[in-house]
Amino acid sequence: MDDQQRDRLVSSDSKPGDSLDHALRPQSIQGMVGQDTIRENLEILITASKHRQEALDHVLFYGPPGLGKTTLAHILANEMGVNIKITSGPAVERAGDLAAILTNLNQGDILFIDEIHRLGRAVEEVLYPAMEDYSLDIVIGKGPSARSVRLKLPRFTIVGATTRLALVTAPLRARFGAVYRLDYYTNNAIKQIIQRAAKQLQVPSESAGIDEIASRSRGTPRVALRLLRRVRDFAQVRGDGKITADISLRALDLLKIDDKGLDSMDRRVLQAIVVKYHGGPVGLKTIAASIREDPDTIMDVVEPYLLQLGFMQRTSQGRVATRQAYTHLGLEPPKGTEQPRLIN
Ligand SMILES: Nc1ncnc2c1ncn2[C@@H]1O[C@H](COP(=O)(O)OP(=O)(O)OP(=O)(O)O)[C@@H](O)[C@H]1O
Ligand SMILES: [Mg+2]
Repeated sequence: MDDQQRDRLVSSDSKPGDSLDHALRPQSIQGMVGQDTIRENLEILITASKHRQEALDHVLFYGPPGLGKTTLAHILANEMGVNIKITSGPAVERAGDLAAILTNLNQGDILFIDEIHRLGRAVEEVLYPAMEDYSLDIVIGKGPSARSVRLKLPRFTIVGATTRLALVTAPLRARFGAVYRLDYYTNNAIKQIIQRAAKQLQVPSESAGIDEIASRSRGTPRVALRLLRRVRDFAQVRGDGKITADISLRALDLLKIDDKGLDSMDRRVLQAIVVKYHGGPVGLKTIAASIREDPDTIMDVVEPYLLQLGFMQRTSQGRVATRQAYTHLGLEPPKGTEQPRLIN
């Protein structure tokens, strides 16, 4: 594989087109708001590794999209003062691709593998000894003359990220020295994140205006920053540029984001369960097909938040809408029936 081919597999930077996101991304552990437990754990991990002058242990981040997995990978590289190469599960198609990436890492470098649950089996098998013994077994030649050679690799760090921990195979998971689950942010943390971003973007704002955005950001920094940008647009066009409570409310209303932060897709999912399937239980694929949405998006983005709000429950028979979901949609919950009993 030549350099150009390899460059297609890894990049030293995140996706194009998110330069604003990039500018707003916290660069250090101290500069990051929220996820207190993870931050404290990482601080210890970093300090100890630096002290021993060793590469960081392999780290796996999991949790719903937009909570900061990629951000944390960059922070780790910054704090350790090492290079970060970025790739993703689906990008590394063949074992040879991974071998090419690994042999180009320097001592201490971080290889960030996004969507690590989507790595192919053959690729994973190359990764196991690489993560464990920093060695690579490669086969040279073909047929009877083929022989296996073991290459030594520099001590590097894999930082993996996934929204689906359950799809990460057990042997791969076992090779991470630290596994952290990112959870939704508290309202307070989201407020601080929006406030900081507004300052950086030099948008004048009132605290009540920020509160309105925060309460509809579903505990997710990516959503918070997106809403902030839309409200900023609205304030410029329909107001005097300042984010007030009134401006926020009108902008969010126009975006069809309700007071719980549900957008139209979330509501369509809830409505499908409640109206089409009489409250459930119903399988996720059936819901997805009935509203013509991608089941993965529903599973990754919609469902975790509905579960968190207590609008949906997962039973062994499928998804069930709760009484709160009916009430939120302005519908009468079914009479006389208790909530179905949860199996798990
Ligand atoms: N703690 C935080 N403080 C401020 N901004 C944050 C924080 N966490 C994340 N962000 C911002 O939110 C956005 C989304 O974060 P990030 O890309 O790291 O999420 P992710 O977990 O990798 O999502 P995905 O699963 O979709 O890849 C980024 O623009 C980032 O700058
Ligand atoms: Mg990411």
